[in-house]
Amino acid sequence: MEFPVKTGTPASQKTACAILPVFEGRGLRGATKEVDLSCGGLLSQLVKSGDASPKLGELLLVPRLQRTAAERALLVGCGRQSEFDAKRVRQALSAAVRKLRFTGLREATSYLTHTRHRSLDAYYAARVSVDAVRSALYNFDELKSGRRRKPKLSKLAIAISARLDSKEFRRGVTDGVAIANGSELARDLGNRPANVCTPSHLARQARSIGQKFKNVQVTVLGPREIKRLGMGAFLSVTAGAAEPPRFIVVRYRGAPAREAPVVLCGKGITFDTGGISLKPPPKLDEMKFDMCGAAGVLGTMAAIAELQPKLNVVVLVPACENMPSGRATRPGDIVKSMSGQTIEILNTDAEGRLILADALTYAKRFKPRYLLDVATLTGACVIAVGNLYTGLFSNDDRLSKELLDAGKRSLDNAWRLPADDEYGNSLRSNFADFANVGSRDGGASIAAQFLSRFIEDTPWAHLDIAGSAWLSSGDKGATGRPVPLLTDFLLNL
Ligand code: BES
Ligand code: MN
Ligand code: ZN
Repeated sequence: MEFPVKTGTPASQKTACAILPVFEGRGLRGATKEVDLSCGGLLSQLVKSGDASPKLGELLLVPRLQRTAAERALLVGCGRQSEFDAKRVRQALSAAVRKLRFTGLREATSYLTHTRHRSLDAYYAARVSVDAVRSALYNFDELKSGRRRKPKLSKLAIAISARLDSKEFRRGVTDGVAIANGSELARDLGNRPANVCTPSHLARQARSIGQKFKNVQVTVLGPREIKRLGMGAFLSVTAGAAEPPRFIVVRYRGAPAREAPVVLCGKGITFDTGGISLKPPPKLDEMKFDMCGAAGVLGTMAAIAELQPKLNVVVLVPACENMPSGRATRPGDIVKSMSGQTIEILNTDAEGRLILADALTYAKRFKPRYLLDVATLTGACVIAVGNLYTGLFSNDDRLSKELLDAGKRSLDNAWRLPADDEYGNSLRSNFADFANVGSRDGGASIAAQFLSRFIEDTPWAHLDIAGSAWLSSGDKGATGRPVPLLTDFLLNL
C-alpha cells in the first residue's frame, strides 16, 4: 500500500475517488466545497436533500462526477468540524476505506486532513490515517482455501493543506507504515491457530526479523538451556505439553552498547487450556490468542527495526503451551523460580505470571533502563476495563505517565490500575514462599503484584492486554495492540 502525500487543490487533482468530508453546520467547506463548485453544486444538493449526512462515519458514494478531476466522490460524515480530532479521522477514514475495499478501485485520494484542524497535528494526522487505511484493509485469510477476495486498492493519496507541515506529515506516514507493519505481524501471529503458531513458529518469526536487519540479533533457547538457567517456573508450565518450549531473545542495537536497553517481555502461551485446572469449553478457541503479548513485543521490534531509532531494545519471549497430561504440573506442586523464590502452584491456569516471572528475572542481565511486560494475563482485567483499554500497572509514576501519554497519542489507550503491596497478602502460602493465585477480587492487581516480586528496583510496567489484544465478536480476531502504544513510547524516549 502506497501513501503519496499531495498538496494542491482537489478540483485539479486526478483521482478515481476523492474522499471528501462533510461537516455539520452551514454549507460545505474546504476541499468538499471546491469540488462542489466545479460540479455545479451537486454535492451541496445531496447534503441538503439528506442523501449525504454529516454524521460521523455516514457514507455516500457519488459516481460519475462531471467537470472535475475526480471521477467519483465518497462523501464521509465527519461530525462537527471543531471536534474533528485524530480519533475521528481514523473512524471516518476507516469507514471510507471499508466501503471502497471491494469496489475494484485501485487508488483514491483522501481530503479528510486537507483542512487544518485545531485538534489535529500533522504528524499524528498522518500516522492515524495510515493506521486507519491499513487496518481497514487487513484481512486474515491465509488459511482459507479457494479464491480469495483481495482488495485492489493499493494507493491512497493523502491531500494536505498548504498550512499543514508537510515534512511532519511525511514523517508521520513513514512511522505509520512501520507501525502498521508491526501491528499486522502481531495480528497474523495472534490469528494463527495453535497448531500453526507454536513456540517454534514464534522463534522462526523472530529469526526472520533478525535476518532482515543487521543490527537485530536473535537467540533461541530450547528446553535444555531453559533448564540450565534454572527457570523452574517457566518449565512447570510447559511440563504437560508435547510441543517443545522456546525462550526467544531479540536484541536491537541502535545506540552504543553501554546505553541501557529497554527490555520488553511478552507472554507467549501459544495455547492455554488451563492445564490440570482445565478451563471450561466456552470460547476456549480464543486461548490461541494467549501469545498476543509475545506478538505485541515482536511486532514492536519489527516496527523499531524498520525505523532504526537511536536506542537499544531487547525483546524476551518465553513461549510454550499450557496443557494437561500425565506429566503436567499438579495443583499444590511447588517449583523454584529462576530468582530462587519458591512458588506453590495452586491453580495451573495462572500460568502467564509463572513464565513471566522467569523472563523478568532473566531480563536483569541486561540492566534495563525500563523493564516492561505485556501479557493476556487476567480475565479480571477484561472485567475491569473491557476491550477499550489496556490495563497498566507500574512501580514508577514517570514511566507510567510516558506509557499513558503514548497510548493517548497513538489511539491505543491504557488505563492505570493499582498494584499496591497489599494486593499480595492473599498470595500467602503455608508451604512455599508464596502461591501463584490469591483471592478472586482484584485479580488483575494481584497478578501484577505477583510479577512485581520478580522486579528489584528497575522502573517496571506491566501491560495486561487480556481485553485489548483481540475482539471476540463482530470482527473477531487479533487487534495488533499494543504495538502502536509501545512503538510510540520507544520513539519518544
Ligand atoms: N490467559 C488467561 C487470562 C485470560 C482469560 C485472558 C480470559 C483473556 C480472556 C490466564 O492465563 C488465566 O487463565 N488467568 C486466570 C487467573 C486465575 C486462575 C487467577 C483468570 O484470569 O481466570
Ligand atoms: Mn491461564
Ligand atoms: Zn493464559
